[in-house]
Amino acid sequence: MRKPLMAGNWKMYKTAGETKSFFEKFLPLVAVATHADVVICPPFVNIPAAVEATETSRVEIGAQNLYWKNEGAYTGEVSGPMIFAAGARWVIIGHSERRQYFQETDATVFQRTQAALACGLNPIVCVGETLAEREAGATEQVLKTQFEVGLGSLAPEQFAKITIAYEPVWAIGTGKTATPETAAEAHRFLRGLISAKFGHPQAVQTRILYGGSVKPENIKGLMAQPEIDGALVGGASLDADSFSAIVNF
Ligand code: 13P
Repeated sequence: MRKPLMAGNWKMYKTAGETKSFFEKFLPLVAVATHADVVICPPFVNIPAAVEATETSRVEIGAQNLYWKNEGAYTGEVSGPMIFAAGARWVIIGHSERRQYFQETDATVFQRTQAALACGLNPIVCVGETLAEREAGATEQVLKTQFEVGLGSLAPEQFAKITIAYEPVWAIGTGKTATPETAAEAHRFLRGLISAKFGHPQAVQTRILYGGSVKPENIKGLMAQPEIDGALVGGASLDADSFSAIVNF
């Protein structure tokens, strides 16, 4: 059985002080939540504060991106080994905002994913179509290309460590959640791709999260779909009450 994973993507929000305050309030609210794995991904500079705050809890910390070289003259970049040494164990890769504003591609998703795996980080790899792509009936083709170029060339033992996040771009930060049925349909399609490439047993094991305007009000309906294994939450993960309500769905 796939254990649910509830991950918060804080994007470019919160200082170190705000990070500490969040966990003071959040940790007691999820103390008995053993039904799900819980991950928070703050901005790079606040990873140490988040790791320190969660040390004695089950909550784990992730980064929102990484560069694929271990070190070198790459001003402004942060590497996997640095993230791991800071105490994070997860990393989001290929978020649509990275693709949209920072020219990331399926090819660099592959490079980043390999780099993350090489240093022991668990990648959460994002895929998802834009509104124009959905309206043009291209959703499945977009997901297929993102999957095949971004992840398809991994070795099976590498792929076994991957979590996929299906985040339809039109649902991110818009308040427009995909219906549980629409999300589940995309998840089923992705699981079929995994099955074709890495075999049925792997497809049954891989966690596929849904992301895009997940809120306490809609998490129950989403999680009622057997295809949906958790959520990657933006806005609603910034508040301890709302994210704990999502974790404790
Ligand atoms: P929102 O939950 O704010 O729509 O963001 C989703 C997201 O991008 C998570 O990575």
